[in-house]
Amino acid sequence: MMILAIETSCDDTCAAVLENTRVLANVVSSQTDLHKDWGGVVPDIAKRAHQARIMPVIMTVLKRAKVKIEDIDVIAVTKGPGLAIALSVGVNMAKELAIKYHKKLVAVNHVEGHLLSNWAQNREGLPVRNIVFPALCLTVSGGHTKLILINLQSSNYNFQYEVVGETLDDAAGEALDKAAKLLGLGYPGGPVIERVAINGNKKFLELPRPLADKKILDYSFSGLKTSFYYKIKDWEKERINKNLANLAATFQEAVFETLIRKYKLAIEKYQPKTLLASGGVLANQELRKKLRKVARETKLPIFMPAKKILNTDNAAMIGVAGYFMAKRKEWADPKTLDRDPRLNF
Ligand code: KG4
Ligand code: ZN
Repeated sequence: MMILAIETSCDDTCAAVLENTRVLANVVSSQTDLHKDWGGVVPDIAKRAHQARIMPVIMTVLKRAKVKIEDIDVIAVTKGPGLAIALSVGVNMAKELAIKYHKKLVAVNHVEGHLLSNWAQNREGLPVRNIVFPALCLTVSGGHTKLILINLQSSNYNFQYEVVGETLDDAAGEALDKAAKLLGLGYPGGPVIERVAINGNKKFLELPRPLADKKILDYSFSGLKTSFYYKIKDWEKERINKNLANLAATFQEAVFETLIRKYKLAIEKYQPKTLLASGGVLANQELRKKLRKVARETKLPIFMPAKKILNTDNAAMIGVAGYFMAKRKEWADPKTLDRDPRLNF
């Protein structure tokens, strides 16, 4: 099955070509440069950039995959959740192509894309991962923080998902972005915090560990951010700048320790056979190290996408989720499909 996947849910214009779960080409046109001076994603700028870039990105990905649009069997597109006017660009393009070239269409949930990014294989068909179920996935990005239990039912394509924990307010990536803004470090915050935090003291300030109750598997990050704000709000700029490494390291540690603590609780409770993790924040080496430690302690195998491009927003993961949807024959109607910015998972 040849799949053309399209993803425009936020500030990256993405397209990928896959043969089943084998990624033949994966193109991401990042808009970070356009948004960074505003301290976050500006929806109207994102929409215009998606409109200008979507066609060139699709043409480039087809060329790199050495595939013609006529060779495509299925078009997969992100339906939601995300920014409405950004999602519309991808959805409209997918509908147009599906109608013009008589292709099947599947409408993918962005969160399921992140979740299934561990199934993506390179051109050579690697890696082949022995994912034994139930598997427990920590999906952590700028928009979502979820602990999801995955089971397979009746066939190789019918995944059954149970969200066993999730954030009640901000996502972990969003918390890092907001802390970076407070520290004057720019946008997106996660990668800058990681860089600045490297030689910092993780215990420089005392920060709360929200929802510490052992029975609760949900996350909360907005209180953490507020408490961080109050700790440094009366500080002179000079004092903040002198302690940037320590402040970044302390905040990052509070976020990651919270992520790991609930992950361990969920492992204890649900006894998964495989650990998975995915999402933009997984680009962070410190978090990856902490997750690998959990795997060693619990003697469970852990898989996370190796490449940064598969962790942050991309269309290859949408193609993988689209492949399984197509196998389940969950087709969308190209005449009536609409984006759903609040699509639930
Ligand atoms: O998955 P993603 O690209 O988009 C969403 O679906 O949200 O994730 C973006 C998030 C941002 O909050 C960004 O700050 C964070 O991932 N991020 C990182 C790193 N790279 C990206 N967080 C921590 N360390 C990184 N190296
Ligand atoms: Zn995402």
